[in-house]
Amino acid sequence: MSLAPTPLRVLAFAGSLRRNSYNRRLLDAAAEAAPSGISVTVHDSIADVPLFDEDLEAGTAGGPTGVTRLRAAIAAADGVLMATPEYNQSLPGVLKNTLDWLSRDDARYGAVLAGKPVAIMGATPGHWGTRLAQSQLRHALAAMGALTMTAPQLYIAEAGTGIEPGTGYADAATLKRLQRFLQGFDAWMRLLRGEHPPARET
Ligand SMILES: Cc1cc2nc3c(=O)[nH]c(=O)nc-3n(C[C@H](O)[C@H](O)[C@H](O)COP(=O)(O)O)c2cc1C
Repeated sequence: MSLAPTPLRVLAFAGSLRRNSYNRRLLDAAAEAAPSGISVTVHDSIADVPLFDEDLEAGTAGGPTGVTRLRAAIAAADGVLMATPEYNQSLPGVLKNTLDWLSRDDARYGAVLAGKPVAIMGATPGHWGTRLAQSQLRHALAAMGALTMTAPQLYIAEAGTGIEPGTGYADAATLKRLQRFLQGFDAWMRLLRGEHPPARET
């Protein structure tokens, strides 16, 4: 008799503040398309994370509200999923700023991404699918000790092309790629937990 695997909780946030963000919509699609072993909760926004300032950090016990809110959500999750845009072939400033806060050794939550399984992906209307932004994001996450999934990787280029307005974010082929990516993250989290990874769908 095989036991059902432990359900894993994934906290997801986007590196974009834009109301109709492709990356935010990609996370909403991930929440809907998640395989049965994991549940994806999308953090509403990182708009309440202030610009990092060591004076502000020193003057607010536990950190500013937006930072504490995000830290608590990450601490309660088994893994973190980030969707990043690419700005000027780089990581967006709002996301880097958020990571700088999260990298700090908070009295309650510690450096909340250290030792945490993380998956990164990104969407752009451009042709290169956020490759450079993801490379920089991966680099910054390594600096703070996050355990970022190495493969599969997900680069969504030409986001929105061929999708009729009001009919959802992703076409069937993109959704299939997203599902495979999430299955990979499920396996990555279980590998790090010492569980037997589930068999991948072909
Ligand atoms: C300042 C700025 C720079 C950008 N640079 C790039 C870039 O280097 N590569 C790219 O693929 N898209 C670039 N874009 C386009 C973004 O990918 C596009 O605005 C995307 O929709 C942003 O992500 P979001 O929809 O999640 O907000 C840039 C957009 C802005 C505003």
